[in-house]
Amino acid sequence: MPEARKRTLFQLAQRFDVAIIEDDIYGDLSFSLPRPRTVKSFDDDGRVMLCSGFSKTVGPGLRVGWLAPGRYRDQALHMKYVSTGASATLPQLAVAEFVAKGHYERHVRYATRQYQRQRDIMISWVQRYFPEGSGISYPQGSFLLWVELPAAVDCVKLNQRLAQHAIHVAPGSLFSASGKFRQCLRLNYAFTLTPTIEAAVRTVGELATEMVEEAQAHQVGVG
Ligand SMILES: Cc1ncc(COP(=O)(O)O)c(C=O)c1O
Repeated sequence: MPEARKRTLFQLAQRFDVAIIEDDIYGDLSFSLPRPRTVKSFDDDGRVMLCSGFSKTVGPGLRVGWLAPGRYRDQALHMKYVSTGASATLPQLAVAEFVAKGHYERHVRYATRQYQRQRDIMISWVQRYFPEGSGISYPQGSFLLWVELPAAVDCVKLNQRLAQHAIHVAPGSLFSASGKFRQCLRLNYAFTLTPTIEAAVRTVGELATEMVEEAQAHQVGVG
């Protein structure tokens, strides 16, 4: 979200007196520096609860996060207490030491450089293997690519076909509360991009192309 919109969003929250929960989990994985501002940075009355964690930066198995609750500190502590009670201390201490010793900054700098290179490789594969008319996002950070396929491709069905090849993608409808984005999918380029992953992307593209051709044949048949 552009900075100006973040400011407007904050002003709206003020006008209607509502709280904002800002999930900044990918914020530190920005490819350009300085990283984008948070809504929290416009917060002058403590209504933004900024939260993030280390699952996307340091390691997915960590599940250590943090919250800057602003004026909602007591409620946040209560919610934490009644929802998850105590969290394991050891991973938190390990992360705290990792950050305190400066490893976090170094690690994130290294990881984002790697992700930026991998983004370009993944985009080139999608351009090469996916059906004509597919649209691709151009992520400015993180490790997730959003692809919009021609409308004939239902990515939930595509995923079922891909399962036979032991390949799984995240269908777009997973990210909608109302079942939208069925022709979209999300690809992850966090892992080192090997020839095996390239072959998998090619298979996704081939099966998607098959679905486009089936729809065209059906249209001709109906016509
Ligand atoms: C959008 C988003 N926010 C936050 C999280 C953090 O999850 P967790 O608290 O389990 O590390 C995740 C990752 O799973 C995520 O995708």
